This record gives sequence, C-alpha cells and structure tokens, in this order.
Amino acid sequence: MARPYLKIDQVTKTFTRGAMTTEVLKDISLEIDRGEYVSIIGHSGCGKSTLLNIVAGLTPVTTGGILLEDKEVNSPGPDRAVVFQNHSLLPWLSVYDNVRLAVDKVFGGVKSKAERHSWTMHNLELVQMGHAKDKRPGEISGGMKQRVGIARAGDGTESSVA
Ligand SMILES: Nc1ncnc2c1ncn2[C@@H]1O[C@H](COP(=O)(O)OP(=O)(O)OP(=O)(O)O)[C@@H](O)[C@H]1O
Ligand SMILES: [Mg+2]
Repeated sequence: MARPYLKIDQVTKTFTRGAMTTEVLKDISLEIDRGEYVSIIGHSGCGKSTLLNIVAGLTPVTTGGILLEDKEVNSPGPDRAVVFQNHSLLPWLSVYDNVRLAVDKVFGGVKSKAERHSWTMHNLELVQMGHAKDKRPGEISGGMKQRVGIARAGDGTESSVA
C-alpha cells in the first residue's frame, strides 16, 4: 500500500502543572491520505483540539510523532492550516491586517508585496469579507470573525472555504 500523506503515530500527550499531570491523549494513531476528509468527533474535553494543535505543530507531543509525507513535523508550516476554535484574531489589527500578517509570514520570501496584497484580498473575497477589510475584530460578528479565520488559513481555493 502507498504511504499515507499524514501519519499520526502513537501520540501521547500529558499536560503537567506542578505535581498534577493529566493524560489527554493516549496512543493515538491515524493515517490520512491526500485528498481524504476526516472528522474527529468526541465529547467536549476529549482532546480533539489538542490533537489538531499537535498536527499543526503548535503543541509538542509527549511521546510519538507526526509524519507528513514521511517527514517528521514539530513546528507550524504552510502545508498545514488551522481555523482556530476561538477565532484568535488580533483585536488591534484590521480584518485585512489579520490575514495579511499570516500571508506575509508564509509567503514573505516567495511572493512580491503586490502578490501578497492580492492574495490577501482574494482569500477575503472567497469568504465574502472583502467589504469589511478595514473593520476591527470588535466591529464584526462571531460568524464574520470565523470567516476571517478561514481566510487566514485559506490556500486560495474554493475547497479550502467549503
Ligand atoms: N494547555 C493545557 N494545559 C492543561 N490542560 C489542557 C491544556 N489544553 C487542554 N487541556 C486539557 O486537555 C483536555 C482536552 O482539551 P481539548 O481542548 O483538546 O478538548 P476538545 O476535545 O477540543 O474539547 P471541545 O469539544 O470542548 O473543544 C481537557 O481536559 C483540557 O482541560
Ligand atoms: Mg476543541
């Protein structure tokens, strides 16, 4: 069988605070092929976000590992995008600047300033937020904030905003 695109390999995650440890993930393994859609479901607090944060490279594993095309990942990268559960927008930046910050971070070295501007606007327009580009997060609705989060994580295709 062909190797999987993403391999979650025997991941365990324990949070430690002082003398208290909580085992949140225990021996989680999952293989996902390119183009495959997978939903992770479970009761509140069961560890879904923790697992996704590990795949995103934002949270380190306690044991085990994540392989993307056979390469171990342990930091964020443009090949993995996340729309956060809490929108995580910076309140002092406009809608445009919140998305542009991520675009500059990911494409700073490879796309020109003009290209990064049109990429930002393209992603905002895909989620119908182009008209609100100058508003601050405090001036838009919860759903609109989530759409900005989707634009920030987007890869510029319709499928990424489905
Ligand atoms: N940084 C942290 N430090 C300590 N405990 C944490 C931390 N992050 C998450 N937890 C704990 O890990 C468990 C799983 O949390 P997680 O956010 O992954 O749940 P979830 O499945 O996404 O829940 P929900 O459906 O409510 O979003 C919870 O018990 C939570 O309290
Ligand atoms: Mg969650």
